[in-house]
Amino acid sequence: MLGPLDLALAPGERVALVGPSGAGKTLTARLACLPPPADLRLEGTVAVDGRTGLLAQESATALDPGSTVGRQLGLVARTRTADRGAARRAVVAVLDELGLDPAVARRHPTVLSGGQRQRVALALALLAEPDLLVADEPTSALDPVTAAEVVAALRRALDARRAALLLVTHDPGVAAVLCDRVVRLADGRAHQGTGTAAPDPRTAARTVPLAPGEPVLTWAGVTRTWRAPGGPDGRRGRGTTVGVRDVSLEVRAGEHVAVLGASGAGKSTLVRLAAARDRPEVGSVQVAPGTGRAPALQSVPQDAGGSLTPWRTVRQLLVEALRVGHPDDPDHEDVRLVELLSVVNLGHDLLDRRPGTLSGGQRQRVAIARALAAAPRVLLGDEMLSALDAPTRGAVAEALRAHADAAGTTLVVCTHDLDVAARLADRVVVLADGRVVDDGPIALLATDGAGSAALRALREASGRRTGALR
Ligand SMILES: Nc1ncnc2c1ncn2[C@@H]1O[C@H](COP(=O)(O)OP(=O)(O)O)[C@@H](O)[C@H]1O
Ligand SMILES: [Mg+2]
Repeated sequence: MLGPLDLALAPGERVALVGPSGAGKTLTARLACLPPPADLRLEGTVAVDGRTGLLAQESATALDPGSTVGRQLGLVARTRTADRGAARRAVVAVLDELGLDPAVARRHPTVLSGGQRQRVALALALLAEPDLLVADEPTSALDPVTAAEVVAALRRALDARRAALLLVTHDPGVAAVLCDRVVRLADGRAHQGTGTAAPDPRTAARTVPLAPGEPVLTWAGVTRTWRAPGGPDGRRGRGTTVGVRDVSLEVRAGEHVAVLGASGAGKSTLVRLAAARDRPEVGSVQVAPGTGRAPALQSVPQDAGGSLTPWRTVRQLLVEALRVGHPDDPDHEDVRLVELLSVVNLGHDLLDRRPGTLSGGQRQRVAIARALAAAPRVLLGDEMLSALDAPTRGAVAEALRAHADAAGTTLVVCTHDLDVAARLADRVVVLADGRVVDDGPIALLATDGAGSAALRALREASGRRTGALR
């Protein structure tokens, strides 16, 4: 039971619809752009003068997994122009506007991060050139740093257009950044207001810091496999690829874990499951909640530097994340910036540069600093130092460990590099063919002949490369 409800948006106006869950926010907002559900009795009218677009919480997961991003965007662009060249240019322009690498167009949605997928969904909505964009909890499924990135992209996109916005959100911070006006839905009625409520960091949920030894990240009996694609006769390719099989691991507050394994052993699968970029078929993954607004977990893939928004300066990129991790402490921003850059072996002369003017290795290190800035409970790296030259890699690994100890961050780092593992971790887990074959203190690495065949093979390969391990 909802209403009677009167709500009007002027062209270009941005209105946030807030209120307790169950108040009817989603229904109200979606009536503006979708036909009413079949079982809804609706009195009165909803009229929109122009086109509408929808960006929903689940938009990122609703992209077609079987088709490239470029194809999906192209289809929408061609609804606005018959000229293929113009459609292609519109796709390139919107990707650029939203800070997405042009290469994203050639990829399938499944290999993108949650934040990239949600920006692709936003690109789809924008290509339809809506006069009204309905955004229903557009960032609720994202971690706070990624959410801030999507909100910033949405804000810039709206500033560059005349589109109006009807935003459903439970986050007053998101409403404050995006909207001119807040309408509160409660008791089935709309309570109109003006101005927006600024986020109050003091009311943000606080969780007590964990005591050393408490679990921060747990994989419990996790299995993820893929059926090899079958041929048209349905008989070929009946094999199964194993990502991880029956993995149980508990990472506790205060420890730093190196996950080692040859290529294909399942390291990246394990990371994707923990970062909620994939789901296990069997078992579950648990992450202890973050502190305050800070995220529970930040993950840094090997190419994290490539997904930094190109036109923001290093300072802007880091400050954005710092405000998530340390919302109450603006006075120490400069000190923190310099400290974070020194952890990744960069000077503060880089602060006013943009990612495009940095080398790949510098960009990657900025991405690591940005993940640390958000003060996550767990930093999960997937070959995150692999692209750096060996001396830098060693220095960053050691500084990272010192920083993590001081900040109370737990490091979980997947690598095939024993030297990185030895400098950064105090516990080593070895994977082979998707299973845990070793789990012990880091000294295991340097004990000749100890451990599984997989670890011995890694040790031999590393010995051949570097002479000897420290
Ligand atoms: N999306 C996917 N579809 C099919 N197989 C996959 C997928 N992702 C990973 N795999 C397979 O799972 C196994 C483990 O891969 P991965 O986790 O990437 O290993 P690592 O990171 O240790 O190199 C490999 O055999 C890989 O081919
Ligand atoms: Mg990998």
